[in-house]
Amino acid sequence: MASFSSYIFLIMLFIISVGVSEIKSIYLPGTYQSSLLVKKHDEKTKIPFKTHYFPQILDHFTFLPKSCKVFYQKYLINDQYWNKDGGGPIFVYTGNEGNIDWFAANTGFMIDIVPNFNALLIFIEHRFYGDSMPFGNNSYKSAKTLGYLNSQQALADYAVLIRSLKQNLSSDSSPVVVFGGSYGGMLAAWFRLKYPHIAIGAVASSAPILQFEKITPWSSFYDAVSQDFKDASLNCYKVIKGSWAELDALSRHDDGLIKVSKLFRTCKALQSVFSARDWLWEAFVYTAMVNYPTEANFMMPLPAYPVKEMCKIIDGLPKGGSKLSKAFAAASLYYNYTQTEKCFNLEGGTDSHGLHGWDWQACTEMVMPMTCSNESMFPPSSFSYKEFSKDCKKQFGVKPRPHWITTEFGGYRIEQVLKRFGSNMIFSNGMQDPWSRGGVLKNISSSIVALVTQKDLTPNLLSKQKGNMARQSGNCLRCCLVIFAVVSALCVSGPAIYWKFKKLKVKAAQSCMPCKCDCSPPLSLLEVAPGLANLTITDCGKDDPDLKEEMEKQFVDLLSEELKLQEAVDKEHAHHMNITFVEARRLATEYQKEAEKCIATTETCEVGRERAVVLYAKEMKLTNLWERRARQAGWKD
Ligand SMILES: *[C@@H]1O[C@H](CO)[C@@H](O)[C@H](O)[C@H]1NC(C)=O
Ligand SMILES: *[C@@H]1O[C@H](CO)[C@@H](O)[C@H](O)[C@H]1NC(C)=O
Ligand SMILES: *[C@@H]1O[C@H](CO)[C@@H](O)[C@H](O)[C@H]1NC(C)=O
Ligand SMILES: *[C@@H]1O[C@H](CO)[C@@H](O)[C@H](O)[C@H]1NC(C)=O
Ligand SMILES: *[C@@H]1O[C@H](CO)[C@@H](O)[C@H](O)[C@H]1NC(C)=O
Repeated sequence: MASFSSYIFLIMLFIISVGVSEIKSIYLPGTYQSSLLVKKHDEKTKIPFKTHYFPQILDHFTFLPKSCKVFYQKYLINDQYWNKDGGGPIFVYTGNEGNIDWFAANTGFMIDIVPNFNALLIFIEHRFYGDSMPFGNNSYKSAKTLGYLNSQQALADYAVLIRSLKQNLSSDSSPVVVFGGSYGGMLAAWFRLKYPHIAIGAVASSAPILQFEKITPWSSFYDAVSQDFKDASLNCYKVIKGSWAELDALSRHDDGLIKVSKLFRTCKALQSVFSARDWLWEAFVYTAMVNYPTEANFMMPLPAYPVKEMCKIIDGLPKGGSKLSKAFAAASLYYNYTQTEKCFNLEGGTDSHGLHGWDWQACTEMVMPMTCSNESMFPPSSFSYKEFSKDCKKQFGVKPRPHWITTEFGGYRIEQVLKRFGSNMIFSNGMQDPWSRGGVLKNISSSIVALVTQKDLTPNLLSKQKGNMARQSGNCLRCCLVIFAVVSALCVSGPAIYWKFKKLKVKAAQSCMPCKCDCSPPLSLLEVAPGLANLTITDCGKDDPDLKEEMEKQFVDLLSEELKLQEAVDKEHAHHMNITFVEARRLATEYQKEAEKCIATTETCEVGRERAVVLYAKEMKLTNLWERRARQAGWKD
């Protein structure tokens, strides 16, 4: 359980950080900082993956001659836990802006839950990142090639690949659940909305799908960062807030850059003062994002509560001294916690592509306006679409379409909209994570759930052993996961059972006369639990003792699995069960009526009567099991 919370936050957090590093490069002046992805992508995965390349179509949305060009999209697969014939689901990670190996290495949550679900794990790389380059080394050359890089093409890639994979694995009936964090979480959520026939559910961590246009206040991201520091110490916040002006003043001296280089103990003389500014900025923003209660080595080795530690450094220095040198001392905690750095490298991070893919996406559709308010600890800044558009035009020769994402995927009044047609989505957010402000923070319906972790409940992110601190927030996560798991278990087992019957039915059909009774097939538990319902539609199976036994066995398996899940269930779930049971009973009654009607009105239809009786007996058995289970879960008349 502790690991659930650990991992969900792990994904969220690390992915966010990636998002920030990239988005930051667009909104802040100065040189581009080397991407975290580049630093980290060679990490080892906890379980082995096989790498495949899928011939993907370049353009899913036109039939221009060039559109059918094929490129090789990388995906990773692990089937060591997959119980395909038992209905094991397929967990798909919808890749973000980076090399997919890195996400596979760091998305522990999925890997952690895979054995419980007997799932197949797939990580699909996003086009134009990692090895999935449609035009090889020339992919980033110009808008002519980059034009094929957008979220809709990426979603279509995932859809095409998943369908092909399911066909190749003969697993058409296996349910697919998509996962993602940050931009990948946005993609997961959008995938569920756009391709509900391919994915039965989505888990989106820290997905700022509301960070567009005017849905979320533009200053919310940096306000959240500032709040974290203010909460630690007001003096600390004031010192950092005042340090930027000192940096500006210092750099305006004749030998300003040399002075800044000296103060920042740089390995090489600085070319631009913006490097120093970005360096400080990065330290504060990232530290706010990894402000966890235990020592951790996530992006950088850091102590427990690093924001507090940074502020301790600032508060510990003599009053009145230079704010800039205090801010530098605090930032050194982030870069030099290991105490092994001889000097700091503020410049020289290079992007291996020359241009960066996310810059392109931000300049076209991912326009997320961000500002620093007067109350933030960063220098106040504004955002102007006009300026932004001008920069993009200069950099890529394109004009951003800031309203396209909300047109394509929505965002305004998301609660009302999703309540009406969406389902099976989990949005998870940690409130101290600055990105959370642009995420879905409210429960929308019984199956569109927002998990929000408050500041003081910050789960222990990386240390599984010391997981007790995470208990409280872990419970909340667990509860939702259990609900989701139950839903999945039902959906998961159903098709498998159905599949078995379909095979057997072909055999049985030859010895079983088609029933001619006109009684419409009665309502069944189908609406409540699709998995269970398939047990009742085997009209011809009643004469086949093997089939019957198989059926019973499957059903018991299904139930026992669900009961196992239930052990970890709290009141919430009991409530859920009550509703389910009441519904089941109502349907059973209806069923009985139907059966009686059938018996009464069609005496001549012996076959139909017989079938109805058998089905009724079966349905009653199901109902009784449901009742027993509901009682176990605390249901009372
Ligand atoms: C792409 O660039 C890399 C490194 O610069 C080089 O090793 C590789 O051969 C190039 N690939 C192609 C297809 O030109
Ligand atoms: C499925 O098989 C076809 C034919 O062998 C192959 O081209 C395709 O890449 C496979 N699909 C996936 C997702 O690997
Ligand atoms: C890093 O920390 C060590 C130990 O405190 C210190 O000796 C070293 O100078 C620091 N490095 C930099 C670049 O400040
Ligand atoms: C922020 O401060 C500037 C200068 O002091 C002022 O002109 C501006 O109105 C302030 N903005 C807000 C939102 O308070
Ligand atoms: C949403 O509902 C779940 C239980 O279904 C609960 O654990 C969670 O705290 C709720 N989230 C919010 C933001 O109220």
